[in-house]
Amino acid sequence: MSESIWLNGELIPLSEARVSVEDRGFQFADGVYEVIRLYNGKPFTLHPHLERLERSAAGIDLAVPLDRAALAAEILKLLPRSDVKNGMVYVQLTRGASKRNHIFPTTAKPTLLFYARTLPSPQLPGEGEGVKLLAVQDDRWKRCWVKSIALLPNVLAKNKAVSGGYDEAVFIDDGIVTECSASNLFAVIGGKLITHPVGSKVLPGITRAVLLDSAVSLGITVDERGYTEDEALRASELFITSTTREIAWVARWNDRYIGQARCGPVTLALHRALCKRVREETV
Ligand code: PDD
Repeated sequence: MSESIWLNGELIPLSEARVSVEDRGFQFADGVYEVIRLYNGKPFTLHPHLERLERSAAGIDLAVPLDRAALAAEILKLLPRSDVKNGMVYVQLTRGASKRNHIFPTTAKPTLLFYARTLPSPQLPGEGEGVKLLAVQDDRWKRCWVKSIALLPNVLAKNKAVSGGYDEAVFIDDGIVTECSASNLFAVIGGKLITHPVGSKVLPGITRAVLLDSAVSLGITVDERGYTEDEALRASELFITSTTREIAWVARWNDRYIGQARCGPVTLALHRALCKRVREETV
């Protein structure tokens, strides 16, 4: 089955989709996006993702052209027509095409699109070598709560990490650990689960929110606060979370091993809780 894309209300083959070179997404990165996980052809946490899309759009003075229920219905209509069972839906909204000008156009129609794609299954937390993190300076803008398509700092950080033999880059802002290039980061320190608060410096990850909920139900104490690189290095467990990677344990930070250099009990318990939610919500 060839890949299809929903583009401004029309379902067409992805290979035939065209967007103007004067689309503001292309020229100014003037847009926002979402990545939604599919399990068994069913979206997981669809509404929280669409809610975040609305908040991101509002954060750049843009409105999603369909209301949440209508957009959800359109996404759900696409899924049976794609052969993607385990993967993601990528949704992108830009301010649309108009003559290049920094000032917002008054007449442009937003460009809204989404398509589904298969993803490899993430490794189970206990498997594999664990994630190797490279610490880099956090030089992103101060509106990280907006899931903006302007991802160049993240792209540069990730490439620096991968070309050095690491898996993911972890951002350090003035000595404080914020998040990773495409994931949130959690530390287990003194038995507590610690993660930087969301807002100007950290994206409100949907997986992060699910995990924090699960942690509370499991009786794990959660402390949302900034922590130093030194504290992170002394954590008994570190793990990253994202829609695509779910939960992945961190084995190394630069050239240092974390904890026992294996997936720890808190990470495993939270992974089990996430799997349970996925099973319950994607039947
Ligand atoms: N990225 N922080 C950043 C900077 C991210 O780009 C992401 C996700 C996350 C995790 O958020 P969530 O749990 O909602 O996926 C945190 C997506 C997957 C991406 O850009 O591909």
